[in-house]
Order: sequence, then structure tokens, then C-alpha cells
Amino acid sequence: MTQTIIIGCGDVGTRLARQSLERGDRVMGVVRSASSLARLAAAGVPGCRHDLLDDAMEHGILETANARLFHLAPPPEQGIEDPHTRHLVKLLERTGQPQRIVYLSTTGVYGDCQGAWIDETHPVQPLADRSRRRWDAEQTLRHWSQNTGGELIVLRVAGIYGSGRLPLERIRQGVPLVRADEAPFTNRIHVDDLVTICLAAMDRGLNGAVYNVSDGAPSTMTDYFFAVADAAGLPRPPCLPMAEASGQISAGMLSYLAESRRLSNRKLREELGVALRYPSLADGLRGLF
Ligand SMILES: NC(=O)c1ccc[n+]([C@@H]2O[C@H](COP(=O)([O-])OP(=O)(O)OC[C@H]3O[C@@H](n4cnc5c(N)ncnc54)[C@H](OP(=O)(O)O)[C@@H]3O)[C@@H](O)[C@H]2O)c1
Repeated sequence: MTQTIIIGCGDVGTRLARQSLERGDRVMGVVRSASSLARLAAAGVPGCRHDLLDDAMEHGILETANARLFHLAPPPEQGIEDPHTRHLVKLLERTGQPQRIVYLSTTGVYGDCQGAWIDETHPVQPLADRSRRRWDAEQTLRHWSQNTGGELIVLRVAGIYGSGRLPLERIRQGVPLVRADEAPFTNRIHVDDLVTICLAAMDRGLNGAVYNVSDGAPSTMTDYFFAVADAAGLPRPPCLPMAEASGQISAGMLSYLAESRRLSNRKLREELGVALRYPSLADGLRGLF
């Protein structure tokens, strides 16, 4: 039986691991910390520890030859390169050539599209450093694929929401939002659909393909927070004009507010043949409350 390896087996990875185990796959989740290893054990997921930045760490337990490998470990929080992915590619030279890698990138690599609808043919133009790190990771993996013949699928994933993944604390704290008519468009995907898509990409994605992963029903970021607040029975946070946002909204959130795009998911539905369980935020929230 082929081994499924999940590098960066955190929240999404654990859900993916459990789904894979349920369908009878052999699974190994790879995490960095002892606490995450204990979490995996509690979730019934076989796991091992490996810090992608620590070349001295024991590799014996990790065998990646012919494996189906999901790479879900995010880049570090600084810089414009992704040393995690660069180290992973080096590590694979010692642990064995996987059959295929499915990489979870982000839609941030497209940069600001001023609210336009875009698909996978749109040129990448990463603006924020976090997006430049992702683009670096994509390119590292593309080179790995070209140099070794290993198969690669890149999933450019929108904002993930679902059980345990809603901004409820932020809403409770009343952190202000930008006025709806000035707020950028954002795109989302329910975490359960994301897991389905990861498995579909591994099973039948076209080698070399990039797929946008979103529900295809974008709305403004303010509409998103309002919809979550309404579904949770919480008061809607107050709104500010964009011009007043810089003093009152975190730098991290401001960097998201600087980008607006609407993602087509046609390729995901038609070429990858995925039928989404939650094709809109309303569908997803209905299932959560
Ligand atoms: N949040 C979103 O809306 C969104 C959107 C698009 C894409 N994504 C990306 O989707 C992926 C999965 O998300 P998630 O929520 O499941 O992330 P998560 O829960 O934070 O899990 C990340 C995992 O990566 C591991 N990791 C981090 N640095 C590592 C290193 N140096 N060596 C080995 N393992 C390392 C962590 O291990 P430890 O726990 O042991 O540190 C953890 O298991 C991430 O890359 C995320 O950035 C997220």
C-alpha cells in the first residue's frame, strides 16, 4: 500500500490524515514540536517529529520513496524566501523520491487584482512578504519537479473557515472593520471541502497543474465578518472608513485589506471534478450553527 505523508500535519493536515485513514490509506503525519506529536497521537494519527530547519534531526523514521506527499508546512514568518520548502527538497534526496507532491500555497501570490475576477492563468504578482515566501516555495517545488521528474500539484488556497476556524474572538472583542463599500473582495473555502480537494488533487490532479481553491462565491471582508457574527448571534463589529483604519486595525489585517480579487474555481470543478459540499459561505455557516 502506498504511504501518504503529510508534512506540516496541523489542523488541516490532521483532518486530511483522518479522512485518509478512514479510506484505508497508510498515513504518517510530520510535525515539528513534541506537543503537536502528542496531539496527533490523541487524534489517532501515526506521526513523527521533524523540524524542516534542523538538518541534524533524525531522518531514519521518515521514508518518502514513492509516497504521496502533502506539503502543508507554512513558510517562516520573516523574509521573502521559504527555507522550509528548500530544506524539504534537500531532505527528499535522503529520504527517497516521492511519487507526487501536493503543495498548499495561497491565493496571495496573485497580489492585488483590484477586485477583478481571475483564474489560474492570471500572472502572479506577490506584494506582501508572506506571499513572496509562498511564491518562492512554489518555484522551489517546480524546480524539484523539473529536476527529478517527481509529480507536482499546486493548490492556491483562499481563506479557510470551518469548525474551530471562525474569527469569533475578534468579533466578540468588537475590533473594527472597514466600511463595506470600501472593503476588498476576499475568497474562502470550507475546511471540509479543502480536505476533499487535497485528496482529489493527489488522486487525479494533472501533473504540473495549479488549481485555485475557493468556493467561487467571494464577498467583501466586511460581509464575511457580518455573516459570521449574524450566524453566531453576536453583535456586528463597528465599521470605519479605510482612511482611518491604519491606527485601529492590525498591520497583518491591513496587509490583507490592501488586496482585492475574486477567484474563479471553474478549473477545480470542471477539470478536477470536485463537487463542493459548501458552495457559499451561507451554506458553510448553516452547517456550523
Ligand atoms: N489560514 C488560512 O486561511 C490559509 C489559507 C491558505 C493556505 N493556508 C495554509 O494551509 C496550510 C495548512 O494550514 P493549517 O491551518 O493546517 O496550519 P497549522 O495548523 O498551523 O499547521 C502547520 C503545521 O506545520 C508544521 N510546521 C511548521 N513549521 C515547521 C517546520 N519548520 N518543520 C516541520 N513542521 C513545521 C507545524 O508543526 P508544529 O505544530 O509542531 O509547529 C504544524 O503541524 C498552511 O501552510 C497554511 O499557511 C492557510
